[in-house]
Amino acid sequence: MKRVDDFRLQFGKDKQEYVPIMVGGMGVDISTAELALETARLGGIGHISDAMVQDVSDRRFDTSFVKDKTKFYKYNIANSDKSAVKFDLGHLAEATNRHVAGTMEAKRGDGLIFINCMEKLTMNAPRETLQVRLASALDAGIDGITLSAGLHFGSFGLIEDHPRFRDAKLGIIVSSVRALQIFLRKNAKLNRLPDYIIVEGPLAGGHLGFGMDWAKFDLQTIVTEIVAYLKAEQLEIPLIAAGGIFTGSDAVGFMENGAAGVQVATRFTVANECGLPANVKQEYFKAHEDDIVVNTISPTGYPMRMLKNTPAIGSGIRPGCESYGYLLDGKGNCAYITAYNEQIALHPDAKNISVMDKTCLCTHMRNYNCWTCGHYTYRLKDTTRKLADGTYQTLSAEHIFHDYQYSVDHKIALPVG
Ligand SMILES: Cc1cc2nc3c(=O)[nH]c(=O)nc-3n(C[C@H](O)[C@H](O)[C@H](O)COP(=O)(O)O)c2cc1C
Repeated sequence: MKRVDDFRLQFGKDKQEYVPIMVGGMGVDISTAELALETARLGGIGHISDAMVQDVSDRRFDTSFVKDKTKFYKYNIANSDKSAVKFDLGHLAEATNRHVAGTMEAKRGDGLIFINCMEKLTMNAPRETLQVRLASALDAGIDGITLSAGLHFGSFGLIEDHPRFRDAKLGIIVSSVRALQIFLRKNAKLNRLPDYIIVEGPLAGGHLGFGMDWAKFDLQTIVTEIVAYLKAEQLEIPLIAAGGIFTGSDAVGFMENGAAGVQVATRFTVANECGLPANVKQEYFKAHEDDIVVNTISPTGYPMRMLKNTPAIGSGIRPGCESYGYLLDGKGNCAYITAYNEQIALHPDAKNISVMDKTCLCTHMRNYNCWTCGHYTYRLKDTTRKLADGTYQTLSAEHIFHDYQYSVDHKIALPVG
């Protein structure tokens, strides 16, 4: 009976071999530097995320990007037109640099650290800000970049002149063979293929690359289609399967069917090194299957999976764009601002309003009040012990990583009590 440790992941002609486990990016700072560093130390591939990187820098390095931005745009807080609220590209570069360089300097072991860049963070100037995010991460020495959530087909082109464009690992997340085909076609002239393709199915956490009919799709079918496509095109790009891979045996199943590795996240949301606050980790442990919902409250327009008691649902807080503004499209709009203004117009005298359609994702993700999670979150309680006080024991990232790496027969090793 095979286990994950019987496989190794290689990128193209690169001789180096890795444990074929990637821990996926989880913004905002849920996949912390500590989690990524542990994964790399154990020989796998960890991700940090650049979502709301200025805020992450403030917390990690005591900078004051958010405070300064809020002060600068204070005059606009009551204004529903947010088009004036821009990111200072120099500050964005500095924050990214600090986050990435601070992580890379601490790296030990044979693994790699990548950064997850969600292209849906349009930041009121999609092209310019994404270019700065990607280039600064490369400047600061990141091993690789995973482009996700709202894949722009032109993103590789934004960094084609960067000296590390051909040596850093660049990967994409897709949820269909069609998205992959379009990406490859649009980038053909750059003569630069992705180094890896993460194929994310409908059971993943965070935003889904599917519509509300996500339940009609299944990861293995999509993986099989993409494996066949890559073979037909004679493209030897490692495929990483993601979404709902809960045990080492699940991972082996995908690797026996064409995947070169797996990307996992949900099991690590209850790791000691994960950025979620302790009380939120307990919410994840306690969840039952019917507590996990997929809804459309994300202003990005993508369905998102979360716990149904997440405080972000129905919250009617004032849009926080002067401090954050990561989801403003190029014209200063965000679907939450529209939904919020509709409710204000309907209830002009109300002290508090509730907004059900959309949520202020920046503020709620920043405050860990949007409890996004994977489909199998309800199984987390089976991965640990219940303590005398009724809470569940959180786990070390090493324990979870090794359980994926060495377990057989769908067994899950409990932590030492
Ligand atoms: C709490 C949480 C937050 C996530 N945030 C992001 C994100 O910011 N960007 C992204 O590309 N994927 C995100 N994901 C998806 C994961 O990186 C990963 O691909 C997926 O969840 C793997 O499936 P699993 O959670 O069933 O193991 C997130 C997942 C979780 C559980």
